[in-house]
Amino acid sequence: MDYFAAPDRYEGEGFTLRCYRPDDGPALREATLESYAHLSPWMPWASERQTPEEAERLVRQFQGRWLLATDFTAAVFGPEGTLLGGTGFHLRGKGFATRSAEVGMWIRSSAAGQGLGTRVLEAMLSWGFSDAWPWTRLTWHCDAQNLGSKRVAEKCGLRLEATLIRNELGVDDTPRDTLMFALLESERE
Ligand SMILES: CC(C)(COP(=O)(O)OP(=O)(O)OC[C@H]1O[C@@H](n2cnc3c(N)ncnc32)[C@H](O)[C@@H]1OP(=O)(O)O)[C@@H](O)C(=O)NCCC(=O)NCCS
Repeated sequence: MDYFAAPDRYEGEGFTLRCYRPDDGPALREATLESYAHLSPWMPWASERQTPEEAERLVRQFQGRWLLATDFTAAVFGPEGTLLGGTGFHLRGKGFATRSAEVGMWIRSSAAGQGLGTRVLEAMLSWGFSDAWPWTRLTWHCDAQNLGSKRVAEKCGLRLEATLIRNELGVDDTPRDTLMFALLESERE
């Protein structure tokens, strides 16, 4: 399999996961600018100076890749239509043959620390291991210092498989270790 028509939305408890669309740029920009201090220690893409044009181009790229089935970056929208964060199934250049994807996530600062990240990862596991997707293995890569990210993975039942990377210079040019957690479809209860 080198292509499949990916589903474009999933209804979680109190949020919707969906593919970005044209005109989502302002919502993405507002959420990420608000969250710069919260995201920047962990997310190399975080920027204090994203322009409206850059944000709009980004959401269109996300949709384009989704439609071409080369990468799946999703938005997390709340019931009022507020962008609460982002997640996704990332192929990282491996294609579908491995039936494996890496789940990524960020939660905007005003919505963090309230259980949403855990509920979104639970939803990604339920959706990802459903018939809608080809995955039989989902991974979660996190900085060893990122205690919130580690805890979310543990709470959702992912297993720590390895220290994937040791002492790579991180966003602030200090050495960081990257942990890899994973869950197999057969391990999902
Ligand atoms: C990491 C992140 C996704 C977690 O989402 P969240 O909605 O804040 O997490 P939750 O509220 O579901 O918390 C889950 C657990 O993590 C713990 N936790 C959350 N943030 C924490 C922090 N900064 N330090 C220590 N523990 C933390 C919570 O206490 C909770 O554990 P508990 O139930 O045992 O008390 C979110 O904080 C975030 O977007 N961080 C910045 C970007 C990032 O690091 N993304 C992940 C990259 S792998």
